[in-house]
Amino acid sequence: MPDFPVARPRRLRRTEALRSIVREHALDPRQFVWPLFVRPGTGVRTPVGSMPGVFQTSVDECVKDAVAAHAAGVGSVILFGIPEAKDPEGTGAWHEHGPVQDAVRAIKREVPGLVVMTDVCLCEYTSHGHCGILRPDGTVDNDATLPLLAREAVSHARAGADVIAPSDMMDGRVAAIRAALDTAGFGETPILAYAAKYASAFYGPFREAAESTPQQGDRRGYQMDPGNGAEAIREVALDLAEGADLVMVKPAGPYLDIIRRVKEMPGAAGIPVAAYQVSGEYAMLKAAAANGWLDHDRAMLESLLAIRRAGADLILTYFAVDAARALRGAR
Ligand code: PBG
Repeated sequence: MPDFPVARPRRLRRTEALRSIVREHALDPRQFVWPLFVRPGTGVRTPVGSMPGVFQTSVDECVKDAVAAHAAGVGSVILFGIPEAKDPEGTGAWHEHGPVQDAVRAIKREVPGLVVMTDVCLCEYTSHGHCGILRPDGTVDNDATLPLLAREAVSHARAGADVIAPSDMMDGRVAAIRAALDTAGFGETPILAYAAKYASAFYGPFREAAESTPQQGDRRGYQMDPGNGAEAIREVALDLAEGADLVMVKPAGPYLDIIRRVKEMPGAAGIPVAAYQVSGEYAMLKAAAANGWLDHDRAMLESLLAIRRAGADLILTYFAVDAARALRGAR
């Protein structure tokens, strides 16, 4: 490699046309997954205060969002449910006509070309807000939770979900869900495991959106410690061994190093890696843009491109539709 003055990297930055032909990474709206919050009722569209542009909607309104996402070129949506009622076991999670189950059927009917993923977890459905059922001492009972998650997953598959995405972080849940799906005749339904999911402060706004804040304690007993990197490799290896088809790192922006490490794992070669730009990442950018401190569209696209550059194949983001439209406008 020659040195300056022969070497002048700026030569390739002179015009947008030149920059565009040598750019290494680009965003494609097909890779975006848009999280949607579904609740009972009709004609419901309730704004989430800490997440401007995000709503809790009833199934009919949710279908409108799905149609808009598809029209914008977004590849997938992922559904979260807010049930009619909560109880200690989270039994609403596998209700045949729960908001998620009804939304899956309605979206697949209206927009069959849109991939519909469902988040599998009990925290939105339990009265105590934890991701599994509790022992008398208040700790989460891992093994007793597995059959409940499996039941939820099968009910989503029966409704027509294209991808099942467990986010609970119980040990062994991918194997339990895989076995239950296979037994129920859904051997071809893939599992996207939230494999490296950290106990993060950046989930705050989501818990308002999903009404899933734990009544007592926190999730550090089951989600990963933010100080750990190598453990993410172990979590991914375990989920793959249990049958995960895709794996996720979450959050995304503060954990770009983890995305890169997972993408480069020899044992995960060829496995699509997803990353979740979580509610707190979205809320920070929205708040700064609302104050005029950041350019909304540029900061949005740069934050997503960074996640892509780190190695994510799929990006779960509340910006999905806005980013898809901004990309189209930029072309
Ligand atoms: C449910 C779940 C959470 C998120 C996705 N699935 C919250 C949590 O673990 O408390 C967070 C998503 C976000 O913050 O955008 N277990």
